[in-house]
Amino acid sequence: MASTEPHTAPPTSGLEAQHPDAENTSDTSGQVLDDDDDAASSQVQPEITRADDTDSAYGDEISTYSASVRSSIYDYPERYGRTYHAYKEGRYALPADEAELDRLDIHHHLCLRAMHNRLYFAPLPPDFAGRVLDVATGTGIWPIDFADMHPAAHVIGNDLAPTQPAMVPPNVHFYIDDVEQDWNYAAHEAFDFIHVRFLAGSIADWPNLLRQCYAHTKPGGYVEFQDWNTWLYSQDGTLPPESALNKFHQLTCAGRHAQGFNMMPGPHLEKFVKDAGFVDVQVRKIHLPLGPWPKDKFMKEIGVINLVQMDKAIEGICLGVLTQLPPEAGGPWSWEEVQGFLADIKKDMRNKRFHSLYDFFVVHGQKPES
Ligand SMILES: C[S@@+](CC[C@H](N)C(=O)[O-])C[C@H]1O[C@@H](n2cnc3c(N)ncnc32)[C@H](O)[C@@H]1O
Repeated sequence: MASTEPHTAPPTSGLEAQHPDAENTSDTSGQVLDDDDDAASSQVQPEITRADDTDSAYGDEISTYSASVRSSIYDYPERYGRTYHAYKEGRYALPADEAELDRLDIHHHLCLRAMHNRLYFAPLPPDFAGRVLDVATGTGIWPIDFADMHPAAHVIGNDLAPTQPAMVPPNVHFYIDDVEQDWNYAAHEAFDFIHVRFLAGSIADWPNLLRQCYAHTKPGGYVEFQDWNTWLYSQDGTLPPESALNKFHQLTCAGRHAQGFNMMPGPHLEKFVKDAGFVDVQVRKIHLPLGPWPKDKFMKEIGVINLVQMDKAIEGICLGVLTQLPPEAGGPWSWEEVQGFLADIKKDMRNKRFHSLYDFFVVHGQKPES
């Protein structure tokens, strides 16, 4: 693992944090102020450096990253004009380029709004000062917001790709890591809170991820998972089975599943978390409409944000899955075939007659005290 050097500049996410006092008053957890700033504009490639023994949260054995590995992390492979992560190339299907990072920051905004401006639901105290891990952090926007909200906390984000900004709060550190490998934290480095968001299609072995989360959570500490069921549906039957939009979900969910990755972890999170040994498990199911079709003002807003992020996501998903399909599954698709399909999907996504939505799950649990 390599670390991206922490900097002491102000946070870059553009979201100003505050503790909730308006809603769910029994729960003191993560609310941030809404803000129209363009969070995506702050992406800067971080400098990969050897983790310093005095600031590394990973222990001595992790500080051995070689120069050759460091440079290879930046040797981004390119396919069809999109660039992908270099470390463990091929492990993750989506690009790691500017367009995808923009999309992830819009997705972060979608989660915040859908969760009524909360970063998390776990019952952390307002003066929380513990150790936090954000697993597979992406652009690092969640840990940056969390660190801003809880300046006394020590927040770590890890990912296959060094796609986090350099300008971050002083209590945030980023590391390159494959979270499906054994975690190398020492016992004294256990976490008070582990957050895992939006890993649909990323994780091959969810029970193993949960086992590692449990092993590295302090007694009394919390985990929170926030994830999708990426299966699109309509409650009123308005999403035609033969539509390009429906075909996109069928093909890509089945295709990624055949590659060994679950695209629909959301509904399974409760069982994963309970099976791992966490207690007091709380589950929330949140509807995420796709497009501006809902009459309700709030749901319309969610639908529009979701449309914007899906609009940016579908090319990466189709290139990552459909161009890799084996012949027996109708593949591999050519770049031209993908582009034609994308045009049809985009048209369907804007069709207000299709009342389509996804389910998004937020599940938190506590590790028993003893
Ligand atoms: C859909 S993004 C979500 C990012 C972030 N959790 C968020 O909610 O904004 C999935 C992320 O998982 C990372 N990822 C996928 N497989 C991984 C692995 N085995 N180890 C570490 N990171 C991984 C990808 O690089 C990508 O940044």
